Parts: sequence; C-alpha cells; structure tokens
Amino acid sequence: MATVLKAENLHKDYPNHGETVQALRGVDMTIEEGRFYAIVGRSGCGKSTLLHLLGGFDSPTSGRVLLDDEDLFQLSDVAQAALRRRKLGFVFQAYQLLPELSAEENVRLPLWLDKGSGDEQWIDALFDQLGLSKKRMRFPSELSGGEQQRVAIARALVAKPRLLLADEPTGNLDRGNGQAVMALLKQMNVSFRQTILLVTHDSDAVSYADTVLKMEDGRITSKEVLQ
Ligand SMILES: Nc1ncnc2c1ncn2[C@@H]1O[C@H](COP(=O)(O)OP(=O)(O)OP(=O)(O)O)[C@@H](O)[C@H]1O
Ligand SMILES: [Mg+2]
Repeated sequence: MATVLKAENLHKDYPNHGETVQALRGVDMTIEEGRFYAIVGRSGCGKSTLLHLLGGFDSPTSGRVLLDDEDLFQLSDVAQAALRRRKLGFVFQAYQLLPELSAEENVRLPLWLDKGSGDEQWIDALFDQLGLSKKRMRFPSELSGGEQQRVAIARALVAKPRLLLADEPTGNLDRGNGQAVMALLKQMNVSFRQTILLVTHDSDAVSYADTVLKMEDGRITSKEVLQ
C-alpha cells in the first residue's frame, strides 16, 4: 500500500517559563493511503502538537515529515503552503474560522485560495449532511460552538483533499451530530479512498477507524489494526 505521510523521529520542545516542555519525544509513524486512523491518548500527551506538525502548521525541533515523499520542512514557505492546500484538509481543535467571513465564505475559502471553482453540488451536500443548510449566511459569532465546528469540517472537506487531519472533530457535538460527522468522514474514506487521521477522545468516533494509534507522553506506543 502506498505511503501518504511519514513522520521520522519527530521531537517538539516548547520553551515555557525557563523550562522546556517535551511535547513530542520521537514519533515515528507511517500513514498509508486509503486508511482511517484514530489517534487516542490522554490530554496533554501531544496529539494536537503532532497533528500540527504533520500538517506543516508548526515546525519540529528535530525530525522529518514527508508528505508524498516531499520533506515538508525543506520546502520554502510558499511551496509548503501550496502543497498543503492541494493535498490536505485540516480541522483545528479550536476551529479557527475567520470571524469576518460568513459560514459559506469560510467553507469556500480553500477554493478561492487555489483559484479553483467549487463543485456546487458538493458544497450543497456538505451543508446538508452537516445540518447547516439554513446557516450558510451566518457569521461565526452567530453560530453555536458545535455549528462552528461543523463549518470547520466542511471547510476541510470542500476541496476533497486526499488526506484529512482532524483534531477532535466531534469534541463539541451531541451524539446525533457527532454521528453525522463520522458518517460523512467514513463516506469520504470509502467512496474515494480519502486517508483520514483523526484525533479523538470519543469511543464512538474510534469505532469508525480501521487503525488505532495510541499516544503516551509524546510517543506513539501502540498500533492496533481493527479491520
Ligand atoms: N505553545 C505551547 N507552549 C508550551 N507548552 C505547550 C504549548 N502547546 C502545548 N504545550 C504542552 O505540550 C504538551 C502537549 O500538548 P498538546 O496540545 O499536543 O496535547 P493534546 O494531546 O492535544 O491534549 P488535549 O487532548 O487536551 O487536546 C502539553 O503538556 C502542553 O501543555
Ligand atoms: Mg489537543
């Protein structure tokens, strides 16, 4: 099976009030195309830090990230951003919607940045499946936390990226909306082999994955293949 993403001996230190927090202590992982991964582990074990590095949103203290064999941190900022936009969708734990844009404009933003034209049917389907059809014109400040979270998910999926990195995408959702999100992700995974890497605390969400990676104290300590 083809490898999409690889981390090699990733370390990330955060300086903090004269001390150093070792958030990642040597992560090695290989992400294979078309698989659905869940990353689980206690609060503070380094899951978000790892996801940010894999998406090129922060740089490691040492180690490498290879996206389709390209070393992410050897690329220029411009080349890195272009590669990221072409291949990757990212859902942040804290959503990071742009407050001055409506829900719909937030969702369309990745398409504008890549000067692509949207697939209107797909955009309608996303709003519909995420239960946001009536809220397209609202600004983030006029949406609940769970609604903002679903807008962030739609934004990550709008360009149908090959690889989706999602940090607790159901963290702020009730059961029904959580299941709708997970069903959508599973559909993307099955129908066009989108590779998914999901950080979650939610055992319902874990049950959609085919491989579970466990993190402890800045390292991946086990890999369980469920299907
Ligand atoms: N900017 C920062 N400065 C200093 N320490 C940080 C910073 N960001 C994260 N940390 C620390 O790094 C460690 C890993 O944080 P991270 O956010 O990756 O955890 P997490 O596994 O995502 O936790 P959660 O499940 O609560 O989201 C924690 O000890 C955290 O306090
Ligand atoms: Mg986190």
